[in-house]
Order: sequence, then C-alpha cells, then structure tokens
Amino acid sequence: MSLESKFESGILEALRRNNRALSFREICVLLGISESSVASAVSSLYQKGLVSVSSRETRYVRLTDEGKHHSENGLPERRLLRMILERGGMLPIEEARKAYHDDFFFNIALGWLNRKGWGIVKAINGVPQIVVERDPLEGVDEVVLRMLASQGVSDIRLLDSNGVRLLSSRGLVKIVEEVERVVSLTNAGMAVELKVAVTQLTPELIRDGEWRNFGLKPYDVRADVEPIYPGKLHPLTEFIKEVKEIFTEMGFTEVKGPLVESCFWNFDALFTPQDHPAREMQDTFYLSNLSSTELVDRELVERVRRTHEDGWETGSTGWGGEWSEEAAKRLVLRTHTTCVSVRYLYEHRNPPVKVFSVDRVFRNERVSFKSLAEFHQIEGIIMDRNVTLRDLKGVLTEFYRKLGLEKIQFWPSYFPYTEPSMNSVVYVPQVGRWLELCGMGVFRPEVTKPLGIEHPVLAWGGGLERLLMLRLGVRDVRILYQNDLGWLRRVKLCP
Ligand code: PHE
Repeated sequence: MSLESKFESGILEALRRNNRALSFREICVLLGISESSVASAVSSLYQKGLVSVSSRETRYVRLTDEGKHHSENGLPERRLLRMILERGGMLPIEEARKAYHDDFFFNIALGWLNRKGWGIVKAINGVPQIVVERDPLEGVDEVVLRMLASQGVSDIRLLDSNGVRLLSSRGLVKIVEEVERVVSLTNAGMAVELKVAVTQLTPELIRDGEWRNFGLKPYDVRADVEPIYPGKLHPLTEFIKEVKEIFTEMGFTEVKGPLVESCFWNFDALFTPQDHPAREMQDTFYLSNLSSTELVDRELVERVRRTHEDGWETGSTGWGGEWSEEAAKRLVLRTHTTCVSVRYLYEHRNPPVKVFSVDRVFRNERVSFKSLAEFHQIEGIIMDRNVTLRDLKGVLTEFYRKLGLEKIQFWPSYFPYTEPSMNSVVYVPQVGRWLELCGMGVFRPEVTKPLGIEHPVLAWGGGLERLLMLRLGVRDVRILYQNDLGWLRRVKLCP
C-alpha cells in the first residue's frame, strides 16, 4: 500500500505521535494545511481503511459582550469591594454609589457583594452603610473569566464547571455546541509503513537512492487532466492536405487554374448553353467592364461555336440559335473547378491523364448555415483509352473509403457536359438524409471533340466543406471561416 501524498503520511504520523483521535481542525493546525487538503487526504486514508472518522460534539464557552467587559475590568462586586476597602472598609451607600461612577453596575455589584458574603449593609448612626472586611480569594467564576480573557472562548472541559454555571446564570458567558469530525487510526493505520507515493521518478530520486523511501503511484490513464491547446493547423487546411494526399496516393497529379475565368472555359467549352440558368447574374459573379483576351485559338473557338449552334462533328444537334463570342469572353469568378480540368485537357491530349484540383470557387449565393459564396471544390479527371463509368465508380468508392465514408451510393443525375451523369451520395444518420457528395460523369463528345480529345474522360467534382462538416459533426458551415478561437481550440485533430 502506498500513500498518495505527504499529507496522508503527515496525518498518520500526527495521529501516532498524539496517540489519540484528532479533529480536522487540530490536524489543520498541526500540519499547517487547509481544511480541504485535510478532508481529501483523510477521505483517501479512509478508503484505504487506515483511519476511521466519527463526529464528536464539543461544547465551548464564549464570553458575551458584558462578560468581555468584566474580564477586562474585574467583576463589579470585586471593584466595589476594593473601592470601599481603600476608603477604610465602610462607606454610606449613597456616597459609594457616587464614587462608583456607574449606576447600572452599582446595583449589581451591591447585590453580588451581599450574596457572596463579602460585605453587609448596616445602618450606622441612622445612615445605611456598606461594610467590608477583607479582599477575599479569587472565586471560581473569576478564575473562569480570567481564563477566557485572552481568547474569549474555550473548550468547556478545560474550565471549572461551577464557575461556568455562575457566569452563565449572570449572562456573562454563553455555551455553544459544535459538531466536529475526528479522525482516529485503525489497526491497519497503526501498522502501515509511512511511504509516500510519488507520481514522477526524478533523476535526483534515483541518484540519491531516495526512491527507496517512496512508493510509486500507479498511473491512472482514466484520470481527468487539464485540457491543453497546442498550436495546430486550421481544420480546413488540415483536411485539404489530407484530400490532396489521398489523390496523390491514388496516382493523381495536382493541377491549378485561374480564379478569374472566361465564360468560355467556365461554361462554353463545357457545352453549357449561353442561356443556361447557372450563367445568370444571381448565380455567378461577373467582372464588369473586363473581357478575356485569351480566345486566340480561332479553330477551337470556331469548333465550340459550331458545336453549340448545330453540333458540328460531334454527332449532336447542338443547342441551336446563335453562339455569341462576346458572351464567351466575359470574365467570371469561376463557379466550379471543372474549367481547370478542361483547360488541362486542351493542353494534354495524350492518354493517360489523371489529375485533380482542390481549390476555391465562387457562387453568388446568400451566405447561410449551408452555403457560402466562396468555398472549395474537389475535382478530378481520368482520361485513358478504355475507361468507363464503372472505373469512375470504383475510383470514387476508393477515394471516399480513404476518407472514412464506406456507405455511398450513386444516383443518376444531369450536367450539360457529361453523359451519363451521376451524383454520389452518402447517408447521414444524424440528420436521417442522403447528402450529395459530388457530381460526375463521362464528358460528352460536345466537350471532348472540340478540344481534340479522342478517349473517354471521367470527371467528377463537388464541395469540400460539406465533407469536412460531416467529419466534424458541424451543422453550420460558417463556423469553418469564423476564426472562433473557442471552437478552433476544442475541435479535435483526430475526430
Ligand atoms: N462541376 C459540377 C459542380 O460544380 C460537378 C461535376 C464535375 C459534375 C465534373 C460532373 C463532372 O457541381
């Protein structure tokens, strides 16, 4: 058995030394420690069966205000007696009253002088006089009063009980009762070796051989500890890093593209009709008074125009109407990262291509608990000779598995630039709903042919923040951007 603290061994030692039960208060004084330290050490000793605790009623005698006054000046009868002795042992009452200077206590003094037999009142020559003979010994009441003088209070057992009774009947002391807890040694407590347990073995303890005098406190891995808040990366930064690592593990290379993009790359090259609702001002941020100077590949521009107007050589009938190059030159904050993918394809037409991007996109949306105007998308493409939709499903299943999402499904969907198109969804039990993870599909010939791509391209893209929200159990996406230090501290690095 080991004792957890110096206090515990101190208490055992004090109990042995005094060879009697000690009250909590006595222990506080003996060890010079606080009542709460005593309480916790005693409770630990009690649990080990080393001490027993019981309550004891103690009675104290305490001076009243009047008692305090008399303890300083002497009892009134003693003062009166001495005054008369000084004047020859005899004094007419009225003269004594005057000389005593205190009407109230004079009557009391005279009463007690009489009662204690210290003096008598006699008529001499027709005048009532007080007659005393000598200064009697200190009475038991006076002894008690003297003992109380310095502290004002004492354990009743230390005082003469007749004296206490007398003083109490005169209202000079009060008896108060207090329940105290007292600690005594059990047999085990008497026998136990007083070895203190240490929590940490220090070099000094080992060097000096001091460790022999201590026990080692067992390490409690379940004990509560102070939380610590080490410096760490923002969870969003951390998550982006993780997603990029997963892509890299799976053989993808990262690509980047501009944040400000022409409609041509953001929409037209992706066979998104010029009157598509996604192009409206309320969905997309346009840059005013600026247009792209980039559409220099006339052949590409013409192929895209034809594809939109009549399908060109893609086998499609196109959207019809007239395609406007001016509209294609307008600049937007990119609304998705799919433009990064098509740009890359335009420059890398030889299979295989396996690239990804994790980057910022912008949508003209009201910021709310579920949407932001600026957020991140995860985007990937695979271009190779014989890739199919099954490969896409396989790659994405693996990608999500690495992120810890095992139960995903693929639902049919629609995008202007893919056919077939799908959405991957995951079931979130906490909200009882399916959540869309990303859109995907095989790029249409209307997209690949004008770029000069001859092989199938698998593409997918979707929001990053919602994945992180799922992981962190966050309901309001805005918390990811608020720099709320409280939240940032609490958020777990390894949820
Ligand atoms: N660009 C689409 C979006 O922003 C996602 C997507 C990417 C769909 C690639 C199909 C292919 O939601």
